[in-house]
Order: sequence, then structure tokens, then C-alpha cells
Amino acid sequence: MNNYIKIKDLPSVVLTVQEAIALKSDPYKYKKLGNHKTLVMLFFNASLRTRLSTEKAAKHLGMDVIVLNVTDAWQLEFESGVIMNLDTSEHVKEAAQVISQYADILAVRAFPSLKDKDKDLSEWIINSFVNYATVPIVNMESATGHPLQALADAITIEELKTKQKPKVVLSWAPHPKVLPHAVANSFIEMMQTIDVDFSMTHPKGYELNPDIVKDTPVIYDQNEALKDADFVYVKNWSNYKDYGKITSQDPHWMMTQEKLGTAKFMHCLPVRRNVVVEDAVLDSEQSIVITQSNNRTYAAQIVLKKILENG
Ligand code: CP
Repeated sequence: MNNYIKIKDLPSVVLTVQEAIALKSDPYKYKKLGNHKTLVMLFFNASLRTRLSTEKAAKHLGMDVIVLNVTDAWQLEFESGVIMNLDTSEHVKEAAQVISQYADILAVRAFPSLKDKDKDLSEWIINSFVNYATVPIVNMESATGHPLQALADAITIEELKTKQKPKVVLSWAPHPKVLPHAVANSFIEMMQTIDVDFSMTHPKGYELNPDIVKDTPVIYDQNEALKDADFVYVKNWSNYKDYGKITSQDPHWMMTQEKLGTAKFMHCLPVRRNVVVEDAVLDSEQSIVITQSNNRTYAAQIVLKKILENG
């Protein structure tokens, strides 16, 4: 595997999930694979889980790790042919090549603007690194996708499912901030890939990119959608059509113990208690959010392992 930008970069999702579960029981098995190799992680945005789990994953493989919060570096220019006489000090063309001299793998987190839809959809930041870096690139959440999170979610479902084809529902939740579509997009793509009975529920008007949703059933009645669910993945996203706007904060969409029934509760974290989900759910045995975040390490580790093995 050359890069991990999207789920489709994995040679086989099913095998990768099994390999990640195997790594979890013996995380240091390949501790020599990454000797004298360096992972550089670039953060344009905040992170808790992605930063720590990816660093831990790299260290399991024996890699050295360097982290750069981009706010501490020179402000980057991404446009071609621009006269750089304003705020930007360094072009990504130089920066990506320079970083590539210090890195064997470069991981990038860069959220969308949520203001310019076409620009966000073009994935201009991560694709600039793909274009100008000379080492493999790993997506640690880009404008439209969070494939490491989705891989961790697939691992979690595989570990905890009690039937061959569980029912999985993605349920929108209210949130006071304008949030990206990346986690929901990648979760949808992952559920379309693995053997689950998948559907989603959200208020009318909150339809996601049709090129991603495809023929996934959307059930607008949340209670009907949640009926007999085995796993309920709760996530807010801002409006996609009325791009980057909050057009509903309806608290009735918050996940409650009553609505959850006997399903397992999933969320990528961080989560706002009693806005997105009530305390009773997060504090119950049905919540598997801590397992999900633990699996972020093994998702990152299997991805780094496949890239290192590719040479
Ligand atoms: N789920 C996730 O990506 O968490 P962080 O934003 O804390 O990295």
C-alpha cells in the first residue's frame, strides 16, 4: 500500500480488520519493521485520539515519531502561481519536499473550511501533500474523510458483533458547533464495504453527499430506524446542501437510553454529554466508545505496517 487517503486504498478491508485484531493481541510482533524509520505527523487541527493512538501505533512498530502542529510553523501557501506578498511565508511545494527528507511516512490532519464546498471537496490540503511529498501519506482526517476512524469502527464491530450480519444505524445528533462530514462519510463507506445491515437516520435537509450515500437507506423517523439495531453510531454533521450551516439543533435527536434499546452505542469522540447523547448511555455497559478509541491504535498500526512493508 502506497498511501492511506481513503478506505479504498486498503487492499482488502475484511483481511485488514482481521490482521488488526491479530496485532492487538501481539502489538510488538513487528517491532523491528519500523527501525530507523520516522513518522512525521502534521496537525492543522486539534486532536487527542488520533495524535496519541497513531504515535503509539508507530512506536509498536519501532518507528521514531515527530509531531508538528502547523500553527507553530510558517503559514503555508497552497495556491499555484500566487504572488506571496501577504500572510503566507512558505509554499507547500517546498514544505512537502523538505518534510519528506525527515520522514519515511507523513501523516496529515487537515479539516475542511466548511465555507467553500468545492474547495473542500477537492481535498486541496491533503492532495497537495500527496502531489508534492516524496513519501507515503496517511490521512489523519481530511476535509471529507476519516478513514483511520472508520477502520477502527469496523474492527470494533467485528470484535463485538453477536451475529453474522448485525444491524448498524448511523444516527445524526444535534451539536452547537459547525462540524465536518468526514467521520460520517467514512463510516458510511466502511459500512457499505463490510457485511452489515446498514441504514441511516437524520432530519430532512441533512442529506450527505449522494456520491457517498449511494443507495444506503435513509429513514427519517429516528425511532423506526433504530428498531432492533445492534450497533447505533451517533454523529453530528453540519448541513451539506446548505453547506456548513446549522439548520437544526432539535434536542429530540439526542441519543437516549430509551431510544438505544439493547443496541451498542458508538461515537468517534470527543462527544458532548447531554447534547449528543445522554449520560445514562455513555455511562452504561452498552457504550463501546472506549473500545473504539483503543482500536484507533491497531487501525493506525495495520496501516503503517502495510506501508512499511511496501518499502
Ligand atoms: N476521533 C478522533 O479523531 O479523535 P481526535 O479528534 O481527538 O483525534
